[in-house]
Amino acid sequence: MKPFMLPKGFLLGAATAATQIEGGDKNNNWYDWCTRGKIRDGTSSLRANDHWNRYKEDIGLMKQLHIKVYRMGLEWSRIEPEKGQFSPAAIEHYRDEIKTLLRAGIRPLVTLHHFTHPLWLCREGEFENASVVQYFERYVRYVVERLGDLVSEYITINEPNVYVGNGYFFGSWPPGKKSLRLMVKVYKNMTLCHIAAYKAIHEVRRKMKFPGKTMVGVANHVCIFVPYDRRSPLDRIAAAVARLVLQDSVVAMMTRGEVPLPLRPFIHMKRGDYYDFIGVNYYQRRAMHFRGFKDDVLPDVPKNDLGWEIYPEGLEMLCRKYYRRYRVPIWITENGTCDNTDSFRARYIADHLAAVKRAADGGAKVERYYHWSIIDNFEWAEGESARFGLIYCDYETQRRTVKKSGRIYGEICEAGGVTEEIAVEIENA
Ligand code: FCB
Repeated sequence: MKPFMLPKGFLLGAATAATQIEGGDKNNNWYDWCTRGKIRDGTSSLRANDHWNRYKEDIGLMKQLHIKVYRMGLEWSRIEPEKGQFSPAAIEHYRDEIKTLLRAGIRPLVTLHHFTHPLWLCREGEFENASVVQYFERYVRYVVERLGDLVSEYITINEPNVYVGNGYFFGSWPPGKKSLRLMVKVYKNMTLCHIAAYKAIHEVRRKMKFPGKTMVGVANHVCIFVPYDRRSPLDRIAAAVARLVLQDSVVAMMTRGEVPLPLRPFIHMKRGDYYDFIGVNYYQRRAMHFRGFKDDVLPDVPKNDLGWEIYPEGLEMLCRKYYRRYRVPIWITENGTCDNTDSFRARYIADHLAAVKRAADGGAKVERYYHWSIIDNFEWAEGESARFGLIYCDYETQRRTVKKSGRIYGEICEAGGVTEEIAVEIENA
């Protein structure tokens, strides 16, 4: 492990999503999904980290780890529990949470939709119904009018390709459907939601003269696709198709409203520039088989506890690629690993940050890194059993314990890089 420093002004922090940590909300699509026995270990989002009641303690821990930026989600179903009925109490709660962050010297980046939404929207057909654009915009305006004085940076939608892929192709996440027709519809409506929200956030903050530079973008789930067999032309085609269809064309729609050629007869939208940064959520490299268009993991590569390949070089490649293409700051809005015994997380972080540093040295404007996640949390279909946290959570007692990787990451955040001492610690970890 070679020591290195990140560029001056680079900001390090952590990310979470409301439903994965807050606990206590029954009014959203994911809690409903949990009650249908869909979670591998039988747990549910109802317990999670009880962060709704413990956010002060958690922010204290973030401060202890020298976190400078924090990506947090809002639970739409708490803010608008019934269609058109908003909850001032929920907003007050989030205001208090955000003020606590600011007092701790932590800058918030707020996600408006992270896979979950209110049950009333489910009854209305979710993102399949074109009216969602109007509903989403109304919710976003309500939020930004009330939080916009404290928050200038927003992610409108988290990982549209994961939402659509799992919810409408594999059917493994809510709403559990398998339909190409609906996939196209939902992509279209999600893009229109993003564009409407992008404009609304800028407009509200400008009109209300809120301080700070407004920054709005999407958190894109991007990985490296390679052919499983490099000598197979068919596998190579599969990798190229996956890259284009599952990834780059989604980013193109969500940034500039560019609809990929085969979808142009079905989707019309106005091109523009609907992005102030590119959010990169990066976890792994995937190897594609042409047969069955299946993704796999190359033989003999390092993997995490969920079997995802650990491939730090991919992060450098993606930062360079998206900076070259879009010329706006790149924020790593998620990167982390499932390591239930905390045996390789510290190394994982250092290797990925070194990749970020190489990308920055090569000219890519990479400005931030949000580690997924500050604390073990409810990992969607995996439930509580997949641990991604820098802090250990005993879900029964809700006791939090900073892990070894958390301590080391805290040192990295404080130093702005991996010093010689930290490098030795990682070697010995
Ligand atoms: C991402 C999700 C995030 C978390 C990580 C492990 O795809 O955005 O909520 O579950 O994976």
